[in-house]
Amino acid sequence: MADRPVIGIFGAGKVGTALARLLVDGGYEVALTGSPRQTALDLLVSVVAPGARVATPAELVERSDVIIVAVPFGKAATVPWEAFDGKVVVDATNYWPPVDGHIAEIDADERSTSEIHAALNPRARVVKSLNHLGYHDMEDDAMPAGSPLRRALAVVGDDEGAREVVARLIDDLGFDPVDGGGLANGRALEPGHPAFGREHSASELAALLDAERVLAA
Ligand SMILES: NC(=O)c1ccc[n+]([C@@H]2O[C@H](COP(=O)([O-])OP(=O)(O)OC[C@H]3O[C@@H](n4cnc5c(N)ncnc54)[C@H](OP(=O)(O)O)[C@@H]3O)[C@@H](O)[C@H]2O)c1
Repeated sequence: MADRPVIGIFGAGKVGTALARLLVDGGYEVALTGSPRQTALDLLVSVVAPGARVATPAELVERSDVIIVAVPFGKAATVPWEAFDGKVVVDATNYWPPVDGHIAEIDADERSTSEIHAALNPRARVVKSLNHLGYHDMEDDAMPAGSPLRRALAVVGDDEGAREVVARLIDDLGFDPVDGGGLANGRALEPGHPAFGREHSASELAALLDAERVLAA
């Protein structure tokens, strides 16, 4: 992987386009693929994320080192997980009943939602991150490294090398990465948990993740 990995984003909505703008600003090559029912995607991307390009799902997967999944949770199965062998995949999705409705099998599943996604392709190097930051804060709260008020974002996943790749990305996006260990710890980043949607420094976020691990043990 080059110093700056090529980034492919599934989902050209609020999160996908905010991340694309930040990443393009940071010098990354970025491709986006949208919903099959989204029309005029080239025009939309040229206006809201200039510098990013539109790709088909197959092109995006082939060209990207890091794939960010930013589609509604209920649509995640429409993303081609089977093609993600060996890719670092950032799962930015949240199971969000106001949008997704209640999905009985998810409600009954003990796993973190990113473990559920990772099981769709055990050869994908799935990392959960970015899901616990509101899209409107992605650009507003991004700050240079060393800023005293810099906000922290967690990075969890079972592949340590993938966590390191995503941690560098988080730092370049303007946030302090906090290594949260294995993917099962992703539950701590889900809606309803204290890390979700709130501003924390790196030490505060690390303490929250530790506390949830103790509770879960
Ligand atoms: N909004 C936030 O502040 C926030 C923050 C962090 C994480 N998240 C999570 O990030 C995900 C995206 O949120 P969002 O707010 O960006 O949603 P959004 O504005 O609705 O954008 C998601 C886009 O993904 C498209 N899509 C659906 N299936 C796709 C596929 N197979 N390939 C490519 N694109 C596809 C959707 O199209 P259709 O309309 O056709 O489905 C929609 O245009 C959600 O899981 C959400 O929970 C949201």
